[in-house]
This record gives sequence, C-alpha cells and structure tokens, in this order.
Amino acid sequence: MSIVMRNLLDIIIILCVCLNFGRSDGAKERGTCSQTILVSSLFPSSSSSSLSSCLLSSKASQTKSSLLLVHRHGPCSHLMSGKATTSPDHDEILRRDQARVDSIQSKLSKNQVRPSQLTDLPATQWDESGAGTYVVKIGIGTPKQDLSLLFDTGSDLTWVQCQPCLESKCYPQKEPLFNPSSSTSYVNVSCSSRACNSLRGLKGDCSASTCRYKAVYADKSTSQGFLATEKITLTNSDVFDVKFGCGDNNKGKYYGVAGILGLGRGELSFPSQTYNKMFSYCLPSSGNGGHLTFGSVGISESVKFTPISSSTRNWYSLEIVGITVCGKQLGIPSAVFPTSGAIIDSGTVITRLPQKAYAALKSAFKEKMSTYKITSSGDGSLDTCYDFTGLESVKIPRITFTFKGGNVVELDPKGILYSQSRSKVCLAFAGDDLAFIFGSIQQQTLQVVYDVAARRVGFAPQGCA
Ligand SMILES: *[C@@H]1O[C@H](CO)[C@@H](O)[C@H](O)[C@H]1NC(C)=O
Repeated sequence: MSIVMRNLLDIIIILCVCLNFGRSDGAKERGTCSQTILVSSLFPSSSSSSLSSCLLSSKASQTKSSLLLVHRHGPCSHLMSGKATTSPDHDEILRRDQARVDSIQSKLSKNQVRPSQLTDLPATQWDESGAGTYVVKIGIGTPKQDLSLLFDTGSDLTWVQCQPCLESKCYPQKEPLFNPSSSTSYVNVSCSSRACNSLRGLKGDCSASTCRYKAVYADKSTSQGFLATEKITLTNSDVFDVKFGCGDNNKGKYYGVAGILGLGRGELSFPSQTYNKMFSYCLPSSGNGGHLTFGSVGISESVKFTPISSSTRNWYSLEIVGITVCGKQLGIPSAVFPTSGAIIDSGTVITRLPQKAYAALKSAFKEKMSTYKITSSGDGSLDTCYDFTGLESVKIPRITFTFKGGNVVELDPKGILYSQSRSKVCLAFAGDDLAFIFGSIQQQTLQVVYDVAARRVGFAPQGCA
C-alpha cells in the first residue's frame, strides 16, 4: 500500500502532552561534548497537574481524534485512573525490571539451545514483569466501554478482563469489568478459524468449539479466556473489528489496568489487524504525556530507519554497531555486539548492554562527569550514581547509538539518567551478556516508528517532552 493510501486510513492517537513540564529543559549547545540541563527537569513537576495541563496540544489532534498515552507513574495518569498517583517505589521498579530481563534471558537461552523450535514459539508470548509500563485508553464493544490497557511491544494479543470471571478469577481493576453479554458486537471465534490457529502454543482448551487462549508468562502471570471478535474504538471515526482476548481467568501483576494492548510483530497484534503494521510512539519522560499513533501520519521527516534483525522472531530487534560519548566513538570491538541485535522493548526500563560495551560506556561517562559527586548507593543493576543536591544545572555528556546502516541516534539527556532523587541520579544502563535490550528510558522523547511490513524501525528526535 502506498504511503498516500495509508494516509487515508491514518489516525493519530495523542494525548496528554503536559504543557507545563519539560518543553525546554535547558540550553542545548549543538556540536559540543555535553549539554546543560536543569536538575529540576529530571523530575516530575511537584505542582499537581490539572486537567488543562494534560490537554491535547498537538496540531494534529485538533483535527484527528486522540487517545491517552501516559506513564503509569506520571502525574497525568490520574486522568485515567480517576485518582492521584503515588510516587513510584524505585527499588520495586528496578526489581521488576530485572525480573523482566531475566525472563527475556531465559527465553533467549532456550532459543539458542534449540533453534529449530524458534518457529514454534507462540508469537503471543508476553513477559509480564511490569516495570516501565505505559497505558493507553481505548473503547471496547458496542456500546463502547473505555478501558485502560498496558502498552506492550513485546506481545501480540490484546486482551481485557471479562465477565463473568471463572470462580472470581480476575484481579481487581480500577475500571468496571468488560461484559461481553452487554455488547452487541461481541462474537466468539471458532476453534477452526485461522485466528485461533495462529495462537499456536497459546491455544487453550478448544473442546467446546469456541476458541480459548491461554497465556502463561515467565513470572507465572497468566491470562486465559475466549478469543473473540469485537469492535475496538480508538476514536469516533476509527472503529475496527479486532480479534481480542476476553479473559475470564487472569492472575498476576497488572496494576489494576483492564488488560494489554499488544503491539508485537505477529498477525494478532493490534497494528497488524488495523493499520498495516505501521505505528509510532513517543514514550514520555516522567511526568509528561506521550503519544501512540497508528498509520504513517505525524512521522517526522527526520526519521532514520534501521532494519529489524531477522534472528529474534518474537521481538523487535535492532543491530547496534557503535556508541559514542561526547562525540567520541567508544573502542568496543564489533564482535562485542551480537548480530542478532538488541531487543527494543517498551517494557524494560534500563538498557542492558554487553558487559564490555557497558564497561567502556561507564568509564567514558564517569570521566566526563568527574566534577560531580559520585554516590556509592547505586542499587540493583545501577552502579554509577551521582549526588546533584544543591546544583541548579548539570552538564551531561552526549551519548549516541549507531544502528546498522549508519543511523546515529542521540539520546535525550533524560534518556541517559535514571533519576530517583536529587541525591541519587544514576547512569541508566547495565551490563548483561545474555540479554541485550534497548529499554524505555533510552527511548524517552524519541519518536520511534515501527514499519513492520518493510521490516524496519526508525527514530527521530523530539517526538515529545
Ligand atoms: C461465547 O462462548 C461461551 C462459551 O461457549 C458462551 O458462554 C458465550 O455465551 C458465548 N458468547 C456469545 C456472544 O456467543
């Protein structure tokens, strides 16, 4: 399909670009080794965000309809949850982040042992360990019920908790449970359908001729239920018949959201079913609003693409070939970076690099940051932390990643740091030889474009605050 034709189908889902935060965080001196940022810009504003501060701001959203994409911990998220959010527990976030990485690791190592099994791995697998999750709200059913779903590029199947939950096997959620019997557009999918067969390893008990899915995740979280066709409403003018999971037996840590919006590579994923596998997003930095856009509208002219590696079927993987700090290429032998690439994952918070690459990055970063007070109290995966107490602004060395094909992506300063408090701001990378993951902090504020049909992912700067 041509870009022009796709444009006819495009809609933009944007939201909650909280105007009072972040827009301009400090002078950006182009071409120099580092950039100066206000320390206050590393943290969400302490003033409570109002509805107006989270209103749509994009030009596109004036004419196109929109949905919200907010950080689960951000001040805008109360718009979706109906109550004020509490501040995040960083230890818990980092613990869960490691659990997610461990589960990705164990899947990767299984793949390595039995590569012939790769094609049999269900495309709908989802590693739920919860850290770094983003939420969007969509309408489900007729009449539609608006439900908040976690945003996940690591899984395909979109599902929500459904009534009646088997023996009350649903976790508590903030919004009312979806009731398929009060929707006129809900239709069960039969066991013999192509959609049911595409569940492969996640196919549940089909003895009643109605297709059931059964997802068992690495941390033992599960969702089971009926595979069904239902109307999903993004906006009043964008309504799709989509295969989704109506989960009547769900266990695990889902944070009280209604379910998952699957943006993976498989045919059951939401963009595969609706927008020719084309979507883009901008993950907001803490306290701001980002956007999720289906189709090709709003894609920056400065976007630069890199091919999706073919070797990891179940994730979006991109080959990273080099890293610069302060404009200087780190001396990392190319063999250090696996050709299978790094998984780009919206659900992993901290980027995991091969140990040798991390060591080189850390040492170059520390050298440029030598004027700041280092604090020994890094926790878990983070071992390079600084105390910025009393400082108004700091100079952060520029870091770029070079992807295969020469695509150089400069990280936003907020994409370099994990800021827990003024006395603990850490380099947001860790070394890991088994799981190479480009995480959500590093993607922050970049526009990330998934053109899955053309097997490529692109990046452009300044997609959101
Ligand atoms: C879907 O299938 C289940 C199990 O057979 C049944 O209880 C339910 O009523 C069906 N829903 C519709 C709308 O057909």
